[in-house]
Amino acid sequence: MQNLPLIEKLQKTRHLDEKEYERLILTRTPEEEKVLASYALSARRAVYGPTVFFRGLIEISSFCKNDCRYCGIRRSNKNAERVRLSDGEILSCCAEGYRLGFRTFVMQGGEDPFFTDERLVPLIREIKKRWPDCAVTLSLGERERESYIRLKEAGADRYLLRHETADPAHYRLLHPAEMSFENRMRCLDTLKELGYQTGCGFMVGSPGQTAAHLSKDLAFIEKFQPAMCGIGPFIPHRDTEYAADPAGSVSLTLFLLSVIRLIHPAILLPATTALGTLDPEGREKGILCGANVIMPNLSPASVRRSYSLYDGKTCNGDEAALSLKRLAEAIQNNGDTLTSGRGDTKMPAAAG
Ligand code: 5AD
Repeated sequence: MQNLPLIEKLQKTRHLDEKEYERLILTRTPEEEKVLASYALSARRAVYGPTVFFRGLIEISSFCKNDCRYCGIRRSNKNAERVRLSDGEILSCCAEGYRLGFRTFVMQGGEDPFFTDERLVPLIREIKKRWPDCAVTLSLGERERESYIRLKEAGADRYLLRHETADPAHYRLLHPAEMSFENRMRCLDTLKELGYQTGCGFMVGSPGQTAAHLSKDLAFIEKFQPAMCGIGPFIPHRDTEYAADPAGSVSLTLFLLSVIRLIHPAILLPATTALGTLDPEGREKGILCGANVIMPNLSPASVRRSYSLYDGKTCNGDEAALSLKRLAEAIQNNGDTLTSGRGDTKMPAAAG
């Protein structure tokens, strides 16, 4: 266990230099992964107790004006089915979710120009009016500052915007020229400044990604202090130029979940759908490595098929109800409880 001193340093100081992260990533052993995971699990339980939160994911639109090279719903993918939910459909997802115990609704979608502020503001207001004890999380990509302000005023509590990679050159590789790293980062700063509980995140094993890139992601997370961080393995999509690329590593994803937990013990860290797609027990493993959020899909089955970011994305019939029961059992067996309730962050900078 030659990296044990680094792991101990991370646990004690919540910080490593980029070179140290890089070494840890490149030379980690299964034994070291286990030690790190057990530290991460203790760190999570010290802040939140033996508690895992669940959020209802509602995929409101698979239309997207962006053309991210890796993504199945990129604009130029002519094979992608495009669907958007009506207000009525979104509200019935929430109603069903509320009945099942969900107290956070995550509205996620491509950057669909249909969802203007004029459409979203009354919708968010209505959700908050009908279910005032619920948190609303938005995951709708890059928008104008004014828009973020209006959506916040309408009642949105949280915003997820993965930074995708903290390295500008790597960002340019993964995205078309009209998208910019600077704007992405500006959006994240704005969201945080406006008082959203803000989430960043990245894919593990995305094309061209190196350990040095991942170290930059970790340094960024140290500095930005997000309330939430979504990470999951890259999974190639057949209609992209990366169709033949290898998927990201499950073990590296789990390892990074543990590292992020140790950097910010109070962060909200989902065990993502992508992790569950590559490994049937991926999400349960994620919880044991320091994750503390599960986001079952509340979208109607018809839509789920269209919201195909990557191949093999889980979309079985009654995910919300059934998988919640199954997940609750698995989580219970591992010594945690799946807890209803908003599950707000305890991150000092973002509590609210
Ligand atoms: N594999 C894994 N994750 C992906 N995402 C997009 N495409 C893929 C893929 N092929 C992730 C991105 C995006 C989030 C909604 O889904 O990180 O921010």
